[in-house]
Amino acid sequence: MAIFISRGAADTQAFGESYSKTLNGGDVVVLKGEMGAGKTVFCKGLAKGLGIKDEILSPTYAYMNDYGGKLFHFDCYRLKNGAQAEALGLTDYFYADGICVIEWAQNIAEVLPPDVKSVVIEKTGKEERRIIYE
Ligand SMILES: Nc1ncnc2c1ncn2[C@@H]1O[C@H](COP(=O)(O)OP(=O)(O)OP(=O)(O)O)[C@@H](O)[C@H]1O
Ligand SMILES: [Mg+2]
Repeated sequence: MAIFISRGAADTQAFGESYSKTLNGGDVVVLKGEMGAGKTVFCKGLAKGLGIKDEILSPTYAYMNDYGGKLFHFDCYRLKNGAQAEALGLTDYFYADGICVIEWAQNIAEVLPPDVKSVVIEKTGKEERRIIYE
């Protein structure tokens, strides 16, 4: 476990970019943090680090955006439970070759794979964030 202190959105994005270099295909990253913590900002950097050129948009309504099979970006905010994720076919992606990064993963905790990597973003100020990662 390690800690990174971010002092603004650009910092969090740059951190996501460097964090992406620690990932391998098939990894599942759960991102925790309150609304507005910077989870999506982190994902933008992560995608950039993976060489993805598309703009990363919050998948709140789609639940998951697929970036060429390389990155699957989930937002489970509107899911009630793991069964819903299963029914939508979302859980299959956890066992695919791409990297999964999941916002609001706690909503579907029962269906997450056992060996996820966790990134927690804590709001410690207006622009300061404490990022705890492994
Ligand atoms: N240090 C920081 N890191 C990340 N974002 C920051 C930081 N300081 C300020 N911000 C701002 O906080 C907001 C974070 O928004 P973002 O959409 O990434 O949050 P989120 O955690 O994905 O929220 P949600 O749960 O609603 O999806 C942005 O408007 C960003 O500019
Ligand atoms: Mg978000």
